[in-house]
Amino acid sequence: MHLGSAWYPEQWPESRWPRDLELMRETGFTVARITEFAWSRLEPADGVFTLDWVQRVVDLAAQHGVAIVLGTPSAAPPAWLTFAHPEVLPQHEHGHVQGHGARCHYRAGSPVYQSYSNRIAGEMARRFGRHPNVIGWQIDNEYWRMSRDPETTAQFQGWLRRRYGTLDALNAAWSGAYWSQDYFAWDQIEAPNPGANPGLMLAWQQFCSHLYVEFQHGQIQAIRAHAEARQWICHNFHPNDDFDREAIGAELDLVAWDAYIHRTPRFVPGENAHDCDRIRGLKRKNIWIMETQPGTVNWSRLNLHQPQGQMRTMAWQMVGHGADAVLYWQWRSAPGGQEQYHGSVLGQDGEPRPRQVEIARIGADFAKTSALLDGSTPRNQVAILDRWRDRWVLRHQPHHHAFNCVEHAQSYYAPLQRAGVTVDVLDRHLDLMPYRLVIAPHLHLGDDMIAFALHAFVAMGGHVVLGMRSFFKDDENRLAPERQPGPLAELLGGRVRDHYTVEASLSVAGDLGAGRVRSFAEDLETTSPETQVWLRYDPAATAEAGWLANRPAVLHRRVGSGSITYVGAWLDDALADQLIGRVLALARMEGHLRVPVGVEVCARWQGERRILIVVNHTDAAQVVPLPQPMRDHLGDRVSSDQIELAGYGVAVLTTV
Ligand code: GAL
Repeated sequence: MHLGSAWYPEQWPESRWPRDLELMRETGFTVARITEFAWSRLEPADGVFTLDWVQRVVDLAAQHGVAIVLGTPSAAPPAWLTFAHPEVLPQHEHGHVQGHGARCHYRAGSPVYQSYSNRIAGEMARRFGRHPNVIGWQIDNEYWRMSRDPETTAQFQGWLRRRYGTLDALNAAWSGAYWSQDYFAWDQIEAPNPGANPGLMLAWQQFCSHLYVEFQHGQIQAIRAHAEARQWICHNFHPNDDFDREAIGAELDLVAWDAYIHRTPRFVPGENAHDCDRIRGLKRKNIWIMETQPGTVNWSRLNLHQPQGQMRTMAWQMVGHGADAVLYWQWRSAPGGQEQYHGSVLGQDGEPRPRQVEIARIGADFAKTSALLDGSTPRNQVAILDRWRDRWVLRHQPHHHAFNCVEHAQSYYAPLQRAGVTVDVLDRHLDLMPYRLVIAPHLHLGDDMIAFALHAFVAMGGHVVLGMRSFFKDDENRLAPERQPGPLAELLGGRVRDHYTVEASLSVAGDLGAGRVRSFAEDLETTSPETQVWLRYDPAATAEAGWLANRPAVLHRRVGSGSITYVGAWLDDALADQLIGRVLALARMEGHLRVPVGVEVCARWQGERRILIVVNHTDAAQVVPLPQPMRDHLGDRVSSDQIELAGYGVAVLTTV
């Protein structure tokens, strides 16, 4: 277990570095990430490398017991480079070329930029690839932007040509006959604008991901040529949905992500947990939190500070979801630069800010539990299939302003959490055999492979839940030739007749109880006598939904010892709890613990030993019943048949 932060020693006099490292140790830090934005100080002129200062930082950090992760600096090209080679600069909509003065002003597809980036990465690796205090590498920083310049566009056209072979095939895949959208030459195809053809939009997203795979590959090779195998290579993903992170993660040894409270001003525990699970799902291996906020950020519309205790519960939640390291961004506020208002551990004066005390407590926690948690990892029997590409296409055509994949996925994730059940989140990984229950909240782009995998899973006794809008389209983002759920309709013994947008909400009732659904509602029908209707829309449905009066909203069919359930609507919390309770019972699964509202239980396994991490996300004390007395490794206590957690309290439990 590592705790640490991003550190920018190049922004401060060298005489200050020892004090920084002493303070890091006092805070319980064991690692620092450096250099990911330091290109102008690593190579101040073309081909002139000044790495001695990095050597001194790494050596000094070693003396203080602080391990180093080196970032390659390609997210911040120096001015000498962009002025000598303006062709590396990205071009955004309306032809705007982004110049020097901020960061990320580069084009991932520029061969010139790639060769400069690979060269500096290689130089760094030549110097530090064997340094015992360098434990790993981070490539670039949060891949983020795409350029729409002519060279990238030509690369896109080449990629399409390799993918489709002929323009006829491309025109057929993208329904070129619609609005005369046929192409007659490859160079007529441009990057999509808002409202673009759905096939073009999807292909562009895939191409962008491919471009970053290639960009990253060059740097990985440059590092691997010199670095010892023990030094891992990672990237710190941003949690947004813009790229195919599974494709980008494939060549990395480790994936990390930057966990900021970025969608809402206040922390939503379920969303952060879900993001951690999605990132862990990329390689189905433990992750690093390469950045998180020390209390607050500066870029939100409302930059609230987290309440006291929540940095600690957030850190422990992330450990519970597979994080082996938590690093804060950043160590000390820089006097200049764009992020003066951002949270930091030290103030600009170099003295700890009040929040440092809480972070130091996390350091003490990690020191206490590191040996216990070493080598442990989450292991689950429930998987959520939530793919990047479904999110792209649903964002492109949400059909309802309030339809949002993050929240919709939460409507399945949250009831599992409330039931004390932990999950894996998968993208294209289709080995479903370790699981007993697979839930796909919005598997919008169906294809034969996924249909086959789900079919086989049910035939082997697995339980599948498909949410609304599943199998609506094919993998070219065209309407699927059959009504939903297409290739699984026969297995379900039912199908979708039609779909409706719901302005506010609709009432539904049936075996799962009574409640309301929102945003989008599908009218289902059964085609087999074995298929049960678990919920129906209200017979007295309002005018807007008259089409739905008394129609089925949720179908369920037992298939041998397995089952398939199709949910045609966005259920409210109580109904979602009922649905999840039912399918968990069918899959003969129980939560790790019965937790009160606001308390989360996570589990990591070390062989057959289960370590429970129980996190109280509320400011009030909570009592959690336990199946037997357990040892709390944080509180140094052995519990009775229950454990009391203070407001924002955490317990790390094993059986006695
Ligand atoms: C991240 C970025 C960091 C820093 C941080 C501030 O997205 O990787 O360099 O800018 O945001 O919240």
